[in-house]
Amino acid sequence: MDYLRDWPEPIVRVQSLSDSGAQTIPGRYIKPPSERPSGGTPAATGEDVSIPVIDLAMLDDDVGARDDGATVKAIADACRVWGFFQAVNHGVSPALMRRAREVWRGFFHLSMEEKQRYANSPKTYEGYGSRLGIERGAILDWGDYYFLHFLPLCLMSHHKWPAMPPTLRDTNDEYGVELTKLCRRLLKALSIGLGLQPNRLLQAFDEEGVCMRVNFYPKCPQPDLTLGLSAHSDPGGITVLLVDDHVTGLQVRRNDSWITVKPVPDAFIINVGDQIQVLSNATYRSVEHRVMVNAAAERLSMAFFYNPKSDIPIGPVAELVTAERPALYQPMTFDEYRLFIRKKGPRGKSQVESRRMA
Ligand code: OGA
Ligand code: NI
Repeated sequence: MDYLRDWPEPIVRVQSLSDSGAQTIPGRYIKPPSERPSGGTPAATGEDVSIPVIDLAMLDDDVGARDDGATVKAIADACRVWGFFQAVNHGVSPALMRRAREVWRGFFHLSMEEKQRYANSPKTYEGYGSRLGIERGAILDWGDYYFLHFLPLCLMSHHKWPAMPPTLRDTNDEYGVELTKLCRRLLKALSIGLGLQPNRLLQAFDEEGVCMRVNFYPKCPQPDLTLGLSAHSDPGGITVLLVDDHVTGLQVRRNDSWITVKPVPDAFIINVGDQIQVLSNATYRSVEHRVMVNAAAERLSMAFFYNPKSDIPIGPVAELVTAERPALYQPMTFDEYRLFIRKKGPRGKSQVESRRMA
């Protein structure tokens, strides 16, 4: 895979551009009018609608036991209709969530020299990055990130995680353990919501692939012309997103509008990825989302990805394929699938749609 060995152009850190104090952004960050925050279809709206907020207090490890069905139903409904919800009383300590954000904010505020030690390449994406796709001349997003693995253990190495701030690795370990547990509960709820045995989706995942992308969106002098992250659906299983409470940025597509998510303090934003859309034979939907940036405040987010084993074919779960509802997608491994976004960068929902049976 030689074509994935290096970036096509020298990497410029968005944070350096922001820190330079320039009042205009370079042309390669300027989106075509239809993709700008206010432009084209779907139009931005000020409607007072928002993604569902779901209380997970009744959803213990033994998911089906305590919940009378109401929590599972709320989750399943949200994943069918919105592909997104915010979770409160999710069992992860708010203190840990705060610490995790703070160590990562600390990392992005280190000197550029320190951060550059972790510069990533398109071969693995692990480390400090500033673009996703590898197409020469692509229009870029206004954000830097750090990508790392938790599982499988053969991909996890503390040496690939920042050594600074000094508490980052321990905090990150703790965060990974707690979020993995939360994802297992969520996957059980999603299984039950499909009428399947609680462990059915976990079985389909085989082994867990767990990774994280910490996004850092610096202040932007011309936020109306660009995006922090272009419209995309997440390629994997489920995503558990932790955002800054005090600044908005994430927008979720709902029919022909973009809905701005108003973060509930101490909540997680949870969404379905393409692999769950495929496994559920399109009962659950992976929904497009994008990130706006702003002139007044930087923003940090932590996207925790819970994925299937990467080298087994993933297709609709057999029990969900019937004469009335035939399989909608071709099986494909996640490794093969995610090459698309890694080559082309975020491209809305075009990828999962391309997998539809003819
Ligand atoms: C992502 C993502 C949203 C955000 O990293 O896939 O959608 O608010 N992030 O940063
Ligand atoms: Ni995403």
